Amino acid sequence: MLIRRPPDIRSSEITPERHYFNRRELLRSAGFIGAGALLSGATAADDIPAGHRRLAGVQRWPASLKDPPNTFEEITTYNNFYEFGAGKADPAEESGRFRPKPWKVTIDGETEAPGSHDYDTLIKPHTLEERIYRLRCVEAWSMVVPWVGIPLAAVLKRYKPTSKAKYVAFETIVRPEEMPGQRSRVLDWPYVEGLTIAEAMHPLTLLVVGVYGVELPAQNGAPLRLMVPWKYGFKSIKSIVRISFTEKRPPTTWSLSAPNEYGFYANVNPEVDHPRWSQATERRVSSGFSSLFAARQDTLMFNGYADQVASLYTGLDLVKNF
Ligand code: MTE
Repeated sequence: MLIRRPPDIRSSEITPERHYFNRRELLRSAGFIGAGALLSGATAADDIPAGHRRLAGVQRWPASLKDPPNTFEEITTYNNFYEFGAGKADPAEESGRFRPKPWKVTIDGETEAPGSHDYDTLIKPHTLEERIYRLRCVEAWSMVVPWVGIPLAAVLKRYKPTSKAKYVAFETIVRPEEMPGQRSRVLDWPYVEGLTIAEAMHPLTLLVVGVYGVELPAQNGAPLRLMVPWKYGFKSIKSIVRISFTEKRPPTTWSLSAPNEYGFYANVNPEVDHPRWSQATERRVSSGFSSLFAARQDTLMFNGYADQVASLYTGLDLVKNF
């Protein structure tokens, strides 16, 4: 990701003073309130502003992390979504014009059933699950997020990939009139990403439509984005409009932009440093009272999901294939 010198950091990215010593934060830090106060359905944040639509019929996934999730405010105001600008506050501040509905996704390439499908056709046949996952950005910050989504495999199988499908490629929408970051050439648009077919079909790989039980806000990739929890966050492409089954490895935005810094695999690996910084530790994003005491924590191999995913990479040199 781009590195900006301190004078480039906008005042809007600095946590406003009112967020310090916020009463709710004080209580949360002291353990008096949890982010997930509801007993059934999706985890509910106590700080979701009005205007967010709740998703119905969300089932809790038994294997969710037990770590307390980040707050709704943290998850929706500290973002990477270059289509809205390169600053962490830009996606929340610059996405007001973005219209996530109606939405169509094209599914093409090595499939027996190519076509263009409405959001509802893609999503409605499936049960929504809430999964609390770690998110580790390649920039060495992390969060814990209660996503709502569907295993990507369940959706992909409905569109019958052929035996030639070795990879799955994803593409983000291009709408410069609604996405001010796309009016600059900071990256080549559209943002593109890809997974091997085994990674795409892995039961942890989630097609996400919500967070904290409500529809995904624009800044988090409305109306649907990927979440691959054992990989650096840039693999989890937002606002997807095309899913293509391919025989050849597809290009990916950050490895096109800086091939020596960002690889195709991008598995979280504390032993393989980024050329410009260490990946051994991470800063868990926090705000308010708890941020005053936040210490860096060790980064876990495959972001803590090694038991589930290490077998995907048996025999692969993880230093060369970073
Ligand atoms: N997808 C698109 N289309 N554009 C982006 O700039 N940023 C990526 C990823 N998906 C990005 C994207 C990066 S670097 C990260 S860390 C995650 O989104 C951040 O997701 P979040 O903002 O919901 O935490």
